[in-house]
Amino acid sequence: MDDLLTIGEVSRRSGVASSALRFYEERGLLTSERAGSGHRRYPRPVLRRIAFIVFAQRIGLTLEEIGAELAKLPPDRAPTRRDWSRLSGKWTRRIDERIAELDRLRDGLTECIGCGCLSLERCQLSNPGDRARHMGPGPRYWVADRPAG
Ligand code: FES
Repeated sequence: MDDLLTIGEVSRRSGVASSALRFYEERGLLTSERAGSGHRRYPRPVLRRIAFIVFAQRIGLTLEEIGAELAKLPPDRAPTRRDWSRLSGKWTRRIDERIAELDRLRDGLTECIGCGCLSLERCQLSNPGDRARHMGPGPRYWVADRPAG
């Protein structure tokens, strides 16, 4: 397997468009070398970095947050498992928050979500008189924990 990949090879393998790879590079999230022809060449470990960038965005991290995390990795060698584990603190918290959000979303499909509609039978029990409105705007039981009782 080649250790240096062209932007096309990286794009095909990662599923990320070349234009996005260039954008990530402009933002300092990726680095490449230049071949004699001037074309970009990426070391193969870049594929793991790209995978993290894509998934981090899916769980709601901004490019600035992702950049700050990836900056903890060694710039001059392929990161080891140990290097990646240093990032996991913030990621894990964010992933747990996302899982909790998705759980609420799934549960809210058949439950009262405290949105004020009072349209489900369950709303009478879970949100009598739309008491959820006192917690703030929006579907209160989706965005925050449901009140006890
Ligand atoms: S689902 Fe809207 S208030 Fe219950």
